[in-house]
Amino acid sequence: MPATTVILLPGDGVGPEVAAEARLVLGLLAPDVAVEERLLGAAAIRATGNPLPDETLEACRGAAAVLKAPIGDPEFDAADVRPEQGMLRLRAELDAYANLRPAVQGDVDLLIVRELVGGLYFGARGVRDDGTVFDTCEYHPRQVERIARRGFELARSRSGRLLSVDKANVLDTSRLWRRIVNELAPEYPDVAVEHMLVDNCAMQLATSPERFDVLVTENMFGDILSDLAAAVTGGLGLAPSASLSDSGPGIFEPVHGSAPDIAGKGIANPAAMLRSTALLLEHGLGRIGEAQALARAVDEGLALAPTPDLGGTATTAELGAAVRARLQPVGDAASS
Ligand code: NAD
Ligand code: IPM
Ligand code: MN
Repeated sequence: MPATTVILLPGDGVGPEVAAEARLVLGLLAPDVAVEERLLGAAAIRATGNPLPDETLEACRGAAAVLKAPIGDPEFDAADVRPEQGMLRLRAELDAYANLRPAVQGDVDLLIVRELVGGLYFGARGVRDDGTVFDTCEYHPRQVERIARRGFELARSRSGRLLSVDKANVLDTSRLWRRIVNELAPEYPDVAVEHMLVDNCAMQLATSPERFDVLVTENMFGDILSDLAAAVTGGLGLAPSASLSDSGPGIFEPVHGSAPDIAGKGIANPAAMLRSTALLLEHGLGRIGEAQALARAVDEGLALAPTPDLGGTATTAELGAAVRARLQPVGDAASS
């Protein structure tokens, strides 16, 4: 049994296409790491009836890190058992509550710190007798405190500015959120805290993203704002994420979904998946040098071989090969 195992979840749609590129890069940068594939999402429902088979969950629990490609398939849009349930459960089972979503381009360099295992996604839900359907947003103070502390610590390691995003003018959960952030602030005297309402935040992210540094926010707001942050920094094809727990393996995955509209065409941008692999090397395996080399190689590969979402003509495999060529200047061309 190798000392270090990474579980690769190839997922659905463009998932297997971008996962293949990540696997090749890991083979190059971390040849001693065993990469094992497991099923999650629609692929898992088709094979087992369960979007997160026990076998997948146990393998993920025992791994050093989980590298996840997007899941989701329109075939299951109206089904009771859905691919997304598998990934939400995986996040919850691994308690991967701290979701880091960096967005970097030009003079923009921001980091969304999204709470990932609470809020509307995990609150009570149901249908009343009269047909009313409800989802509820719930947060325990401890859930808010631990993600807020992550935000403070990340802000401390960057510009020393933390922006907490909420809807405290309306929601009780947001008022709890704001109170806890304010109560923690004296413990981080080197961090300047500000609060912003989420609607205003969306507007300012669209118009002046360069003003932002570290944002900390709840699950649903972070989901929406991170697509917006991706859009203003080159698009979803570029945006990676890391979902960390306090102990145990993290999940590393693109912000984007399974992109059914382009699946099977071989043109998905693999950069988000490769940048997620760089985050895995850094946060999951502690291999900072390799992570930096990969991040640089992705930037260089994108300049040489942009995919159609960026206005280029490169295929997924061509951009993947361009990235690997930057990692291994001699000899990779023949195998691409
Ligand atoms: P999406 O992110 O899959 O696609 C939105 C748009 O962005 C599409 O036009 C798509 O072609 C484009 N796009 C996304 N990734 C791209 C890439 N790598 N290269 C080039 N273009 C890319 O969002 P959606 O269409 O709303 O969702 C599709 C499915 O994915 C749904 O089932 C959804 O639940 C699922 N989803 C999964 C994840 C995940 O696994 N983390 C994240 C988001 C959505
Ligand atoms: C994401 C996705 C997921 C989320 C969906 C597919 C459940 O949109 O990772 O951003 O909302 O968390
Ligand atoms: Mn999303």
